[in-house]
Amino acid sequence: MRKVLVVSNEKGGTGKTTTSVNLAAVFHGFGNRVLLIDSDPQMNATSSLGCNGRNENNYADLLNGVKYVRECILHTEYCDLIPASARLGVTEKILASMGNHYQLAEALEDMNEYDYVIIDCPPRMDELVRNAFVAATDVIVPMSTSSYSMDGLMQVYSTIRMVKKYENPGLNINGLFPVSDRGSGKDTQGTHKGKSSHSVSKCGSGLDPE
Ligand SMILES: Nc1ncnc2c1ncn2[C@@H]1O[C@H](COP(=O)(O)OP(=O)(O)OP(=O)(O)O)[C@@H](O)[C@H]1O
Ligand SMILES: [Mg+2]
Repeated sequence: MRKVLVVSNEKGGTGKTTTSVNLAAVFHGFGNRVLLIDSDPQMNATSSLGCNGRNENNYADLLNGVKYVRECILHTEYCDLIPASARLGVTEKILASMGNHYQLAEALEDMNEYDYVIIDCPPRMDELVRNAFVAATDVIVPMSTSSYSMDGLMQVYSTIRMVKKYENPGLNINGLFPVSDRGSGKDTQGTHKGKSSHSVSKCGSGLDPE
């Protein structure tokens, strides 16, 4: 069965894009069919796959309902990609004004040709992220193990709780994913031992498509 993995954290610079792109490349390397969706107007996943972000058909067109999902897919060396656009910021405001959480879920409804769809999210809990959570099977939260990084988690969890309750009851938090641990400074004490070891083991399970 297809997995739709959302890589999200409200905090910036925690490794969301690095995790998304590398997961996509590794899954593709193991022979899976992988689609990466760049949902961040910063377009970092798009540019890291060698695309310039000025693609005629992109994720903003898909969310605006002016292009079908298959029209927006680019084939790259590492995986298929729906590129981001700088217009995603405006698109987010339009979706938010309409309260439309379902645009991506509906677009992906008949997309059964991929084993994994991976969505790289911007560093906030906005309508782009809400659409990703509603369409997803699993959420992965890359984070550093500093206590400051923990602060953003409450917002992530409360958004996921709301989405599970009202829109996508099957949504699974697949794991916190500690991508960096900068030593034993005060701000890491009491965080990395309890949380990261648990999360690594949790993240290792459940990602195989059934
Ligand atoms: N596991 C890691 N170990 C060390 N450095 C990392 C790791 N993952 C990412 N980085 C570095 O951290 C920086 C931020 O990574 P990245 O752009 O993936 O974060 P992000 O969460 O997508 O950022 P944003 O919130 O701005 O979208 C980059 O310089 C990246 O090379
Ligand atoms: Mg990013």
